[in-house]
Amino acid sequence: MHAAHPTPARALVTGASSGIGAEIAREYARRGVPLIVTARRLDRLQALAGELRPRVPVEAIAADLAAPGAAAGLVEAIAARGLAVRALANNAGYGVPGRYPERDWPTHAAFLQVMVAAVAELTWRLLPQLRAAGDGRILNVASFAALMPAADGQTLYAPAKSFLVKFTEALALENADAGVHATVLCPGFTRSEFHDVTGTRARMRVPPRMWLDAAEVARYGVEACERGRVLAIPGWRYRALYAATRHLPHRLALALMARNSQRIRPLD
Ligand SMILES: NC(=O)c1ccc[n+]([C@@H]2O[C@H](COP(=O)([O-])OP(=O)(O)OC[C@H]3O[C@@H](n4cnc5c(N)ncnc54)[C@H](OP(=O)(O)O)[C@@H]3O)[C@@H](O)[C@H]2O)c1
Repeated sequence: MHAAHPTPARALVTGASSGIGAEIAREYARRGVPLIVTARRLDRLQALAGELRPRVPVEAIAADLAAPGAAAGLVEAIAARGLAVRALANNAGYGVPGRYPERDWPTHAAFLQVMVAAVAELTWRLLPQLRAAGDGRILNVASFAALMPAADGQTLYAPAKSFLVKFTEALALENADAGVHATVLCPGFTRSEFHDVTGTRARMRVPPRMWLDAAEVARYGVEACERGRVLAIPGWRYRALYAATRHLPHRLALALMARNSQRIRPLD
């Protein structure tokens, strides 16, 4: 860990109150990296902090990333506690079910704020610290959906996750000179609270072998980031699917997605 900071610089994990984010925090703790964990549910964060404190120092800070000032407030709260950030895991996220016109604009605006604007702002605000660390890390949790043609329903989800792919590629190039690694993690269907939050679990028809374990996804992502890999796709089945589909003619890829997305996650 870098010596320029009075206390060892930490990993900041957003969306750490459940699922993949909690597992990313556990993975950093396993590697001895002190933590700052954030999400809206402070009770969950405190329980996680209690679990991990025997290994590493953990600070829990509640923040709602849908609020436009949240990224700035979070960075201020971190500074006020005298903490510095060496690794940033932008993981918080959710899906909005249904077709685009079916949901009101405030719902879509909040989604874009959490999934795109907050990620961009938090990264921008922390980049000086990440670069100063000398071994800074940015782990952006996107989705396998970012690598496939968009599906019918959850309209803004794939576009928001695709933004993370390009954003990460640019960050990796721009910050390699300062020893910063940027990785975009693209998991497929992963067991977490995600499909309960979107309310789609009962309708999902995902073959059991396609479900990933959140702890394995987190371990794969953190390891890929440590190694400096820009794109990380956990699970060999998903890597094979990506290899098999990425060079298909676009019209064929769209047609395959149209058929399969309705089979796997039918709309109402
Ligand atoms: N599960 C999958 O199949 C899957 C697949 C590919 C990608 N992903 C991505 O993986 C990431 C983690 O999702 P997950 O599967 O672990 O789902 P999850 O168990 O529902 O966790 C989502 C996390 O995001 C936080 N969050 C949601 N809205 C927030 C807000 N407004 N402000 C702050 N934090 C917020 C939640 O915390 P609070 O509710 O406490 O705020 C929670 O900690 C997401 O970006 C998701 O898009 C998931």
